[in-house]
Amino acid sequence: MAILNIVTDGDPVLRKRAAEVEIKELSTPKFKKFLEDMLETMYAANGIGIAAPQVGESVRVFIAESGKGPIALINPVFTKKSWKLLKGEEGCLSVPGKFDKVLRHKSLSVEAFTTNGQHIAFTAEGFFARVLQHEMDHLDGLLYVDRVKEQKK
Ligand code: NI
Repeated sequence: MAILNIVTDGDPVLRKRAAEVEIKELSTPKFKKFLEDMLETMYAANGIGIAAPQVGESVRVFIAESGKGPIALINPVFTKKSWKLLKGEEGCLSVPGKFDKVLRHKSLSVEAFTTNGQHIAFTAEGFFARVLQHEMDHLDGLLYVDRVKEQKK
């Protein structure tokens, strides 16, 4: 395993919409190693989530701490979002040393593929839902600081 370089705000890869992963790619040694490296990188940085664009790979993959351990999601989509929003503090490995309050949906329904290529659907709320929204934004080329700016308007 290897610790990957985390890119920071200002790097164009963080503002790009990431590409879908081909499911057949998931079984390749290269992709498996990439996921292991992402997890190790997240732990080394004391993060609770990490998205592939943050290590310079513009693909739709992230790891999020669920509260019961980290979960890696491939090509995730939100199929439902609660009307209710909650404000909570967030930071980001790509915006080091800063924290701010962000409004996020209280709960969500999610569909994604697991690292084994299995299609899954689940609901999340509270802190886990917040982490999922933060990481999903990374796949869409958005940072939490962009949300803060937009919400302060
Ligand atoms: Ni982040």
